[in-house]
Formats: sequence, structure tokens, C-alpha cells
Amino acid sequence: MSSIDYSDKIPNNVNLSEDRTLQRALEQWQPNYLNWWQDMGPEGSHDFDVYLRTAVSVDPQGWAQFGYVKMPEYRWGIFLNPGEKDRRIHFGDHKGEPAWQDVPGEHRANLRRIIVTQGDTEPASVEQQRHLGLTAPSQYDLRNLFQVNVEEGRHLWAMVYLLHRYFGRDGREEGEALLERRSGEADNPRILQAFNEPTPDWLSFFMFTYFTDRDGKFQLCALAESSFDPLARTTKFMLTEEAHHMFVGESGVSRVIQRTCQVMNELKTDDPARLRAAGVIDLPTIQRYLNFHFSVTIDLFGADQSSNAAIFYSSGLKGQTYKVLEVNNGMLSEKEVPMLNALNEVLRDDYIKDSVGGVERWNKVIEKAGIPFRLKVPHKAFHRNIGALAGVKVSPDGRHIHDHEWNQNVEQWLPSDEDRAFVASLMGRVVDPGKFANWIAPPAIGINRQPVDFEYVRFN
Ligand SMILES: [Fe+2]
Ligand SMILES: [Fe+2]
Repeated sequence: MSSIDYSDKIPNNVNLSEDRTLQRALEQWQPNYLNWWQDMGPEGSHDFDVYLRTAVSVDPQGWAQFGYVKMPEYRWGIFLNPGEKDRRIHFGDHKGEPAWQDVPGEHRANLRRIIVTQGDTEPASVEQQRHLGLTAPSQYDLRNLFQVNVEEGRHLWAMVYLLHRYFGRDGREEGEALLERRSGEADNPRILQAFNEPTPDWLSFFMFTYFTDRDGKFQLCALAESSFDPLARTTKFMLTEEAHHMFVGESGVSRVIQRTCQVMNELKTDDPARLRAAGVIDLPTIQRYLNFHFSVTIDLFGADQSSNAAIFYSSGLKGQTYKVLEVNNGMLSEKEVPMLNALNEVLRDDYIKDSVGGVERWNKVIEKAGIPFRLKVPHKAFHRNIGALAGVKVSPDGRHIHDHEWNQNVEQWLPSDEDRAFVASLMGRVVDPGKFANWIAPPAIGINRQPVDFEYVRFN
């Protein structure tokens, strides 16, 4: 079960060749997927040979094989973790019953929605990132971007497999629609707002992979507990890939900080104007990017009180009580709500704890350089657009404020047009192996124990 059949047109470990109808349906979807990749995958990259890892088994050890691949020829396929014998449902109304191997009729619509929403984020992020290759700060970073992109492509495959296999004709239609929506397109946008925002520069990319891919991890962890066993097994394998995406984000931001601190010490200044003139990103700008990506991402956990989340939980579709924030007479206050209705908030708070860890590691880099500045995640009510806090003006330190104070300070709290223009002005393509753009430090080690100056991408 865990070894992958690469002789099939579609690599898989689900015995696809034994289900002709399913195989044929997926083989019909495949060329449409490849057309989508040609149109919406990384711009100008189709002839590059990229040093990528490909899954060869779902075992924790040795699932990855590294080698040069042209991305349109990447072996996207269907990989599920092996089933646990006699797996039981361990939460909700169905606790103790055997996990479902098929979709129960009464949960069909909700399950389909969960799978489609997850599936939609995968191609969306590839679309958001498709221009970044043109301004990569090094071959090493370019390769990491492409690795993330092909794996998000595979995550789409994972969700489309479930749709085709378990949802019949509706599922096939959803599979097509996943290739038709476009990130940021007014007429037919991606489902979740954070996936319609552009990722215009590499600082945004690193923040996105640190904060937003971490949201992906939390959503996948919840799905990995699903009573619907095939969904649990496929998301477990997706999680192993997600870890690398967050690494790209955390180490990316860390290297930007490292380089900035180095120049701060060389020039003995913390003046943003002088640092910008020296071609590095000042720490307050990094803080504003952090504020933006953090706040946009915690909105992805949905409204603070959600009846959907409660239905998904008690019916056993999505695994995981509580205090939520509200605004009362102009003051932020906590209110107790039944645990089931606060599930989104529980998950959001777990997420916040998890993301603070990396921010502390970034602070270590600043501390080590002897610089008295610390990054901080903003208050969870800051810059929110979903739920009871939507549009409420709260400062990063958690004070409910008037529009006047907000307007006076917003340029210190969120990236301004000027900040974005400055960061964009630094973005230029660096193509020689071992060379790095001025605004970012090289990594400590290369990929797969290769040297940092390894030829990670052959441009041809
Ligand atoms: Fe993904
Ligand atoms: Fe990801």
C-alpha cells in the first residue's frame, strides 16, 4: 500500500488501475490540470531543469527522491497514508463507531464543501506566486519556490482524487471548477479572501509561507482527524509536505533579518532611510509586513463563533470549548460561549501560540546582533475582517481606538504603498549559483546536503 506505482500514467498508491472508471475520469482531468499549470504555473519556468524532490513512498523515512525535473513533467499523483486497522471515530456524535470508508449521505454536502475549500487554496497559492520566479534573490530560493509550487499542485491532486472517487458527477464538476477559478479575478475568484491577495514580492512570499502555510497545517491537522477515513489519510501525507513550506518561510524571513542586522552594525545606524539607501529592509518595515500577514491569516480561521464549525465537529467531519472577544460600549471584552461554537477561536488561539515560536527565533537573530529591537505578533483583534471584530479599530497592542488614532498611525502598523514600493524596488533576479541579492543573507546549508552554491536550477 505504501509504495508508489510510477508505471501508471498517474503515479499512485491507491491501486488506481483496478478502478477503470475512476482512472479514466482522472486521466481526463490530467490534461486540463497540465493546461492550468502551463497558463497559471510559475511564469517562464517550463523549460527549466529544477532540482526537486519527488515522493517515492509515504513512509516517514525515504519518501523523497531528489533530481532535476522540468516542472510540467513533475510526477504529480495520488498518495495516501496507509489505513489504520479498525480506526474509530474519536469525537463528536459518532464517537466509538468505525471510521467511515465511504461518505454518509447526510454529510455529503458538508464534506464536499470542506474538500473543495481546502482544494481551492492549493492552486490559488501557485497563482499568487507565479511571478516571483522573475525576481528570485538566488537559485537556492528559486528552487524552494518551485518546490512549494509543485507540492501545492499535488495537494490539489489529493483533493481532486477524493472528489472523483467519492462524489461522482458532482465531484468531477468540482474538479473542473477548481481549475477555472483564478486568484484575484473579479468574475471567478478563489473561495477564501487571503488567497485572492497578490504575493507581490519575496518578503510577502516568506511571510505567506510562514503564516499562511501554517494555517494550512492547522486545517490539515483538523482534517487528519476526520471520521471520513480517506480524507484523514490523504491529509496526513499532505502535512509532511507542508513542513517544508513553513521552513521556507521561517528561514527566509530569518535571513532577511540577519542581513539587515549585519548592515545596521556595519553602518552603526537604525535609521530606516539610511538602511534603505544601503539596500536592505529596515526592521520596522519587516514588523509591518508581519502585522499584515498575521492578521490576514488569522481571519482564515473563520468567525469567532461559528455554527458551521460546530456542525462539522459534532457530526465528526472535522476534529477538535471557550472565551471569545467582542466589542461592548467601545471596549474589547471577553465573552464565554459554548465550546462547540467557539471551535474556530480555539484553533485560532492554538495557531497564534504556534506562530509565536518562529517570531521568537527571529528575535534571537536580532538579539545575537546586539540590536535592541524585537518583533511582535499584533493583538488578535488587530486589523480583522471576519466575525465580531470585523472592521473594529484595534491597535497592535490591543487597545480599541477611534478612527482618528487609527488613521494617524496606520502607516506605522501596516505596510504603506511606499513600503511596498521600496521592497519591490529591491527585487531583482539573481541567477548565478551561490550569489544572493543584497537584501538577504545566504542560508547556513543547502538543500539535500548540497552546497549553497549548487546549481539548483538550470535555465537552459
Ligand atoms: Fe498545500
Ligand atoms: Fe503549503
